[in-house]
Amino acid sequence: MSTLISQTVVLYCLKECLGGKVMTYSIVASHAKGKCATDNIFGASAAAGRAVIKYGRDKVVNATLGAIMNDQEILACIPTVEKTFRKLPIDNIISYAPIAGSPDYLEACINSTFADCKPDAYIDGIATAGGSGAIHHTIWNYAEIGDTVLTSDWYWAPYNVFCQDSLRKLDTYTLFNEQQQFNIVSFGAKVKELLAKQNNLIVIINTPAHNPTGFSLTDGDWDHVLALFQECAKDETKKIIPLIDIAYIDYAGEKNSCRAFLKKLGGLPWNILPILACTMSKSFTMYGQRTGAMIGVSSSKEVIEEFKNTNQFTSRATWSNITHSAMKLMSTIYQDKGLLSQVEQERAELYTLIRKRADIFMSEAQTVKLHMLPYVAGFFITVPAKNPEAVCEKLHDDNIFAVPVANGIRIAVCAVTSVKMVGLATKIAHAMQVIDENNL
Ligand SMILES: Cc1ncc(COP(=O)(O)O)c(C=O)c1O
Repeated sequence: MSTLISQTVVLYCLKECLGGKVMTYSIVASHAKGKCATDNIFGASAAAGRAVIKYGRDKVVNATLGAIMNDQEILACIPTVEKTFRKLPIDNIISYAPIAGSPDYLEACINSTFADCKPDAYIDGIATAGGSGAIHHTIWNYAEIGDTVLTSDWYWAPYNVFCQDSLRKLDTYTLFNEQQQFNIVSFGAKVKELLAKQNNLIVIINTPAHNPTGFSLTDGDWDHVLALFQECAKDETKKIIPLIDIAYIDYAGEKNSCRAFLKKLGGLPWNILPILACTMSKSFTMYGQRTGAMIGVSSSKEVIEEFKNTNQFTSRATWSNITHSAMKLMSTIYQDKGLLSQVEQERAELYTLIRKRADIFMSEAQTVKLHMLPYVAGFFITVPAKNPEAVCEKLHDDNIFAVPVANGIRIAVCAVTSVKMVGLATKIAHAMQVIDENNL
């Protein structure tokens, strides 16, 4: 009898963990039970791929993946990046790199991140496996186990996976107020609520050109955010770690104006440590090369030395060193002004392409009265929806594939040609109306 009861309990627990899938056997340790990430984005993209095989590429709108497709719907690579990459000596491709990252790469990363907006502070970097690696290390090293990390209610879903995997939790504040501006009231309330319960607080801020909305905090928003952090940091038992995810910074507008907020990160108290999560995935169209960096900014030399030592240690324990070739690619480009200006010019062309596509969508959305979240720049536009899954499913009737997110539909404007962008907002508005009318 007792065996029966304990089996039932075990089965119930596993069923709970695995979202309904009953497992008879499980071997993983208790902290790893129930881990099973279903990736909406890659799932939707695979469905689009199947539709292409069935109906032909020209009949399908694939607005799922955050990667730039050119007007021939081929994954875009910045031409000078490709040329420089192909010319790298084999030694730079196959050799191990230093665990912290090659010094010339880190210097290039710091220069590219700040441009003319370098704050007056101690600054250092660690190479990471993409921006994802920077997020991973920050959560692992700066939040206590069991702590809660804060981000906005519209957020890139993997943030939650990083937190869960490292035994932390994720909570959210409301990103927009009624005027569709940054909601500093909700932000401040959540920061204070969490700091009342825990001493370390990581706040993930994905700006400029936020995924999934395309929103960017203004410089004025940053003044409010930093004033709030400074007020909270008066209690020196509290440590605040703004994790600024700048994955899309190179597609966010004029180079220095969209970086102006970075200058404000200088002169903060020692117990506020901004960490910038940088990536070559988007800026250099090198998604699969898995190369990024975390850059720490502090008024304290000791905090930055600790940042370097701690995160280098975690790199050793996680992936050792990262891809040498992409680091070499970046430093080669940054050491040659001609190459750099070519890359920047070619990247600007991709930015213009995305901008044009977004403009088509936004102007049509206005005409058909489709409400969308405030887009400033970047790879994605989001349309709020009550039942995103049902709307995305309905859009499949028109061979349109987008990603359902928590309370909306994410459209990857980086991936849809201008020709296919025409009519998209109208079809989404129609699908939403059908779903609404049928109370689905
Ligand atoms: C908001 C955001 N942050 C970070 C990343 C990290 O990308 P990667 O790990 O490829 O550098 C992505 C990638 O899609 C992203 O959308």
